[in-house]
Amino acid sequence: MHPHLIMLHSVLRWLILLAMLITLYRSYTGWKSGRAYTSWDNRWKKITVSAIHIQFLVGLVMYFLSPVVSYFWKNFSTAVKERDIRFFGMEHLVAMTIAVVLVTIGSSKVKRLNDSRAKFKTLTIWFTIALIIIFLSIPWPFMFTERPYFRF
Ligand code: HEM
Ligand code: HEM
Repeated sequence: MHPHLIMLHSVLRWLILLAMLITLYRSYTGWKSGRAYTSWDNRWKKITVSAIHIQFLVGLVMYFLSPVVSYFWKNFSTAVKERDIRFFGMEHLVAMTIAVVLVTIGSSKVKRLNDSRAKFKTLTIWFTIALIIIFLSIPWPFMFTERPYFRF
């Protein structure tokens, strides 16, 4: 089951990045142009939140099945000094959880606002911070891990 979950988790990364960029593009240009907040803006926001909540659930299940994570906890004192092991045992989970919380708070704040400009501005700020954290916490092949861009 774990290899299938990794595949799903790997693909969802791209969906999340795409949905976040579309939502951010719409909210930033909406904010600057002063146009009205439409049902399509709301739809893209929901798609982003859903993708990220599903990713969180998949990640959480993987956390308990992952050989890397179990190695991390069994050999904590030495594993904590190994960059790539510590990354999956600790950093990835903590940073991504913060990002998921930021997206959820930002999204629910938008729901409570009535003014279009305020909605766009709130969405832009919260989602931008979350996107930066997500981007920096993905195990990209150009960073320190051997993880591929695509898993088939
Ligand atoms: C926006 C949120 C997240 C994104 C974009 C993301 C992205 C990724 C990516 C791209 C990988 C590498 C997959 C591969 O090897 O092909 C990965 C691995 C992993 N992620 Fe996430 N992740 C997110 C959230 C989470 C969360 C919240 C958790 C835990 C609660 C989690 C747990 C893991 C674990 C345990 C692995 C390594 C599994 C293994 O190799 O055994 N992820 N993540
Ligand atoms: C561990 C499981 C989950 C937890 C703890 C969780 C938690 C939350 C919380 C706290 C909110 C904010 C409610 C508010 O606005 O006050 C929310 C909103 C939302 N969640 Fe989840 N969620 C989970 C799983 C999912 C899944 C699996 C999906 C999609 C299939 C999903 C889609 C959404 C959507 C669409 C929203 C509303 C976004 C918006 O328009 O503001 N969630 N969730």
